[in-house]
Amino acid sequence: MDLHFGDSKPTDDERAAVDALLGPPESSWEGADRSDADLRWARGGRAARDRRDLLLPGLHALNDRIGWISEGALDYLCRRLTVPPAEAYGVATFYALFSVRPRPATVLHVCTDLACAAAGASELCAGIEGRLGPGSGVSVQRSPCLGLCERAPAALAVKAGDPVRTAVSAPATVEQAVLAASAPDSAPEEPAAVMAVPQAGDPSLTLLRRVGVVDPASLDDYRAHGGYTALRRAFELGPAGVIREVTDSGLVGRGGAAFPTGRKWQATASQPDHPHYVVCNADESEPGTFKDRVLMEGDPYALVEAMTIAGYATGAHRGYLYLRGEYPRALRRLEHAIAQARARGFLGDDVLGQGYAFDIEIRRGAGAYICGEETALFNSIEGYRGEPRSKPPFPVEKGLFGKPTVENNVETLVNVLPVLTMGAPAYAAVGTAGSTGPKLYCVSGSVDRPGVYELPFGATLGELLELAGVRDGLRAVLLGGAAGGFVRADEMDIPLTFEGTRAAGTTLGSGVVMAFDGTVPLPRLLLRIAEFFRDESCGQCVPCRVGTVRQEEALHRIAERTGAAAADDIALLREVGRAMRDASICGLGQTAWNAVESAIDRLGAYA
Ligand code: SF4
Ligand code: FES
Repeated sequence: MDLHFGDSKPTDDERAAVDALLGPPESSWEGADRSDADLRWARGGRAARDRRDLLLPGLHALNDRIGWISEGALDYLCRRLTVPPAEAYGVATFYALFSVRPRPATVLHVCTDLACAAAGASELCAGIEGRLGPGSGVSVQRSPCLGLCERAPAALAVKAGDPVRTAVSAPATVEQAVLAASAPDSAPEEPAAVMAVPQAGDPSLTLLRRVGVVDPASLDDYRAHGGYTALRRAFELGPAGVIREVTDSGLVGRGGAAFPTGRKWQATASQPDHPHYVVCNADESEPGTFKDRVLMEGDPYALVEAMTIAGYATGAHRGYLYLRGEYPRALRRLEHAIAQARARGFLGDDVLGQGYAFDIEIRRGAGAYICGEETALFNSIEGYRGEPRSKPPFPVEKGLFGKPTVENNVETLVNVLPVLTMGAPAYAAVGTAGSTGPKLYCVSGSVDRPGVYELPFGATLGELLELAGVRDGLRAVLLGGAAGGFVRADEMDIPLTFEGTRAAGTTLGSGVVMAFDGTVPLPRLLLRIAEFFRDESCGQCVPCRVGTVRQEEALHRIAERTGAAAADDIALLREVGRAMRDASICGLGQTAWNAVESAIDRLGAYA
């Protein structure tokens, strides 16, 4: 390994931030004073590789304490972890939440994504910038979706320090956002997670039934509301029995790919290589998605229990929960829940006295949509740039740290609880034959009651939008987020199932349902989607890296054109779209043209 360090030195604060994570340095090589230990100390090969996964937490530690990552700080972190600084620089610059250039200690992320754009994000940004001015000590950054779409427009203030402070303002006004940035501690408390669940109290709810009912900070309250019944049943069934139930339930992944969960678990469990890992993908970054946030904030123990069951079934003893960096409240709740579960024997060396060891570690993402792709997420945890890997080998065989790994998103895992408490036949009776169980939808945009909705698979788009109070003048609905597709206002009969949306030539994706009236011009929405993909492409493969740029350029050119004046660029868009779909390595490039294509073909954009 080639290690080239510069001459820059860390400040005392930077050093303290790294040492708080890694402990004091052991030798002068790591940045301590020279001592006898230097003669005995060596770390290379496997020992160095074993610590590489602390790079992302280390970068977070610096960014949280100082607000940005200086060369001296990066060098010090690299010495401590034996990571080449050039590689660490590549990692630090990969993530939108980090900066390697000096910036004020407070960053105000203002969402300018679809739902927020429709709710006046541009005016909000202009107002905030006008109020704060250059010498305010606050850096205002336009951000992709912050996962607060039900309260658009949204802003998130992060004030570096020890400890770092955060404040959410949503729906944001100029005054509230400025207050959140300048004095996060005095900003008003966020509304409870249940405020995002318009159906709260409905006895037919399964996945959302505890949100707003249970105290998210109390393990006892969780147990009093049925918590840990599923894990006890799992221990009765044994690992193979759990996998059989999950398979028989027909549960498929809710992240968008709809892969059968039981098959994934079985494939991981049967791998001879060890250790096995469970990874929860809580990096929901699809614009318009916020259901996992609501689940994690409102019912955090459910996820801890579900991950434990997944670990037990697949023979894993360690779980990683990769959480979106923009979810500070979910982070606090989950940290607390995991600590409580550990203290009370629901995690640890002997879970519930059953002789099974399992523990969970939270890893924070840092603002990269692509890390929602399963193998990119592994690279991110391992301390590399979050670039997707080529498959095969698939994660069930070679996943995190090259070991068999089962990866599920939050909603999928939380579904395992009713599978075990109701039993597979009862669960499979909910929904349709091809799409079983309940499904969560994130409804936002032009509706009176935006929020997370739970309906059995098979309800129609019209029924869902009626529940949410769709407003007059509906022009289009975006299903599945930026990677999904638009449908027309007269297509309300589309059944919300995997097979139904497929038959209708669209996708359910991760459950985003964004309603648009005519107030935001369609070309502006499409430009925003194109900008998002260009920005979030990891750049690893040419069709996506170049295609997303060409797509955005063409959409800029035709923003004000229609008919024959747009024809050449539409033909180009189709060609580029086909190349991205056919030749990109991962789902980002493969879906980057979906929404634009659907707007052209279904909504008649630019006609
Ligand atoms: S398709 Fe795009 S995001 Fe995916 S690996 Fe290629 S460049 Fe990266
Ligand atoms: S929070 Fe703004 S679009 Fe989701």
